[in-house]
Amino acid sequence: MDALVVTKANKLSGKIKLKGAKNSILPIIAACVLTSDEVLIRDCPKLSDISDMLGIMQSIGAKVQVNGDDITICCRQINPHTIDRGLMSKIRSSIFILGPLLARCGEANIFMPGGCEIGKRPIDLHLDGLRKLGVVVDEECAEENCGIVCKGTPKGGIVTLKYPSVGATENLMMAGALSNGQTTIYGCAKEPEIVDLAAFLNTIGARVYGAGSNLIVIDGKRCLHGARYKPITDRIAAGTYMAAAAVSGGDIYIEGAIGDHMDATVYKFRAAGAHIIEEQRGIRVYCDNRLKAIKQTVTLPYPGFPTDMQPILVAALATAKGKSVVTETLFENRFRFAYQLERMGADIVLDGDNTAIIKGQRLHGADVYAQDLRGGAALTVAALAADGITLINGVEHIDRGYESLENELNSLGANISRINKTD
Ligand code: UD1
Repeated sequence: MDALVVTKANKLSGKIKLKGAKNSILPIIAACVLTSDEVLIRDCPKLSDISDMLGIMQSIGAKVQVNGDDITICCRQINPHTIDRGLMSKIRSSIFILGPLLARCGEANIFMPGGCEIGKRPIDLHLDGLRKLGVVVDEECAEENCGIVCKGTPKGGIVTLKYPSVGATENLMMAGALSNGQTTIYGCAKEPEIVDLAAFLNTIGARVYGAGSNLIVIDGKRCLHGARYKPITDRIAAGTYMAAAAVSGGDIYIEGAIGDHMDATVYKFRAAGAHIIEEQRGIRVYCDNRLKAIKQTVTLPYPGFPTDMQPILVAALATAKGKSVVTETLFENRFRFAYQLERMGADIVLDGDNTAIIKGQRLHGADVYAQDLRGGAALTVAALAADGITLINGVEHIDRGYESLENELNSLGANISRINKTD
């Protein structure tokens, strides 16, 4: 198992270039099932979540080629019954395969998806939505440990989501894109990755309208075609580098960062005293002084403050001057990293399950464990500001969502090395 050895950083400086957003690329990979033509996805980072998703695609018969940052996928022949159970249960995004498989094959045999242990993460909204489109879902088998069997080609219909779930919105968009009818989704998620998926679907010939608002309408098509597509850049990776620059008192340029996708994050880091200049091709972040506390932050669906940035903001605030309060409203177990931060000297008190009261401190190095992706990124950000050396175990969680986080930060002047603890 790998670990990161992080030495307190001087001021980070220089330029970093963002690649495509993990949360855009994962559903787009699944959407390739909707066409028998070849699809080329550009600008893909090397992430373990992406290689696991590609493994799932191969298990149902997709031909996959990775060439540098380009991924080519061809789903000429697809078998909806051969999905790799181990990979499906490893990542949450494996559930994206369900809508496209039903649309293409009229049946699918899947398993409960896995993913970060940040909360219960049920799939009821996905399944109930598909039922509204005419699919029959047999969950009884799941209790007998042999998967969820779904039958029926989505025929269109009206779905009202009781919560704006990103994944459920995406699954239903993909199911509706290749169908005989019209699909209307009320109460949709509005994340930039939803808009990006709609743009991809429309590029392969679909007719998706309204993405980015809370009502999406899809006129189903009987056949979709191949394309080349470049996804949007990763706003959570951008926010992570923003935090790294801010805690180190540095000055960096994040090439490719899209300010319009990051309003809530930019607002918070400005409130904490960072200077952020949004330009057409990227964002400059610099910080002259110690960060200041932020009175109140609440995670919310987009355009609210993103839950994926919550641990990273908390890590930055753990070094700031004064008392901050952060409330998590999406996932139940998203403060587990706080106990690890405490080992580094952070003063964080949990008020109930979902609110953290953070009194900024001078942090010191410690031996800590990344238990999930963004919690791991948070520990890395905190370690940049901590006196001495921090050992971050559980790097496989960080590798799910960052292509070599240590190399990226080292290119800005950080001092991080990766060690193999079994060496
Ligand atoms: C996506 C993102 C993840 C991000 C999250 C919220 C991807 C690959 N992942 O995850 O990084 O943290 O959005 O912005 O895009 N829920 C249900 N039933 C369901 C589905 C969801 O109750 O069927 C609940 C979840 O438990 C959670 C909330 O809805 O409390 C939001 O989840 P959702 O938006 O679906 O997140 P994901 O799509 O899993």
